[in-house]
Amino acid sequence: MIALEEFKQTTKAAVRQTPAVELEKVGKRFGAKVVLDCVSLKIAPGELVAIVGRSGCGKSTLLRLLVGLEPGTEGSIRIGGTPLRGPNREARLMFQDAALLPWQTVLENVALAASRNPDRWNEARRALQLVGLEQRVKEWPAILSGGQRQRVALARALASKASILLLDEPLGALDALTRLEMQKLIEEIWLREKFTAVLVTHDVEEAAALADRVLVMEEGRIIAESRSTLPRPRDRSSSDFVTLRETLLGWVMSGTKKVEQASLTV
Ligand SMILES: Nc1ncnc2c1ncn2[C@@H]1O[C@H](COP(=O)(O)OP(=O)(O)O)[C@@H](O)[C@H]1O
Ligand SMILES: [Mg+2]
Repeated sequence: MIALEEFKQTTKAAVRQTPAVELEKVGKRFGAKVVLDCVSLKIAPGELVAIVGRSGCGKSTLLRLLVGLEPGTEGSIRIGGTPLRGPNREARLMFQDAALLPWQTVLENVALAASRNPDRWNEARRALQLVGLEQRVKEWPAILSGGQRQRVALARALASKASILLLDEPLGALDALTRLEMQKLIEEIWLREKFTAVLVTHDVEEAAALADRVLVMEEGRIIAESRSTLPRPRDRSSSDFVTLRETLLGWVMSGTKKVEQASLTV
């Protein structure tokens, strides 16, 4: 009885909580080409959702719609309950290419993202401290390594105080070791700062390691979903983790081959 009562309370609380991001039957066409096909999705505040899928399945398009760079052709997007029309000021997009301004120092590059904040220099310093680059504030981007440049890009996103971070394969160009370090850093900062995150990656292990929930996309649709409450940082050699990773890989490689959607919880 008590368990049922608790369950009801939890369910009510979940219903009451407005999603940070909500997509309802969102579609996107370029001419006759359907790139997103009836995508419905709710992301809770503070949730870390990963999206995996083959190249060209619509992942980046979905992020561009979420940041308000372009409109969908069907359906609706709500951010914190408010319909999105135009640029999404709650969100910040981070790409594989850090795109730092070469004629500005590390600190100036980060402070630019907080240009409307009167306390932007302190905000920029704090963000650089979070990513472990407080010693490099006066340097030029050109002398930084690829991993360090991505740290600056991450600091820039943090300094902007966006409540939603959209990460489009941000670690795709890094070597394996730097990639692992950056995954650890992203997880630590996300746990501390509690922003909502959508991480697009082609690396299913990265998705399994970092995400509360992984969505698998195929040809503009979400075909499968996994949820994981494995303790963080995740033990990548545990059998649950291996099951999760291999299931995701199977879904990405061969689809779900089912009419109904596939799901897995570990
Ligand atoms: N502006 C555009 N005009 C026409 N086709 C586009 C445009 N942007 C993306 N596409 C097409 O949409 C599909 C999905 O692209 P994208 O979202 O970048 O995929 P992903 O990020 O999953 O690799 C691709 O076939 C791509 O060629
Ligand atoms: Mg892409």
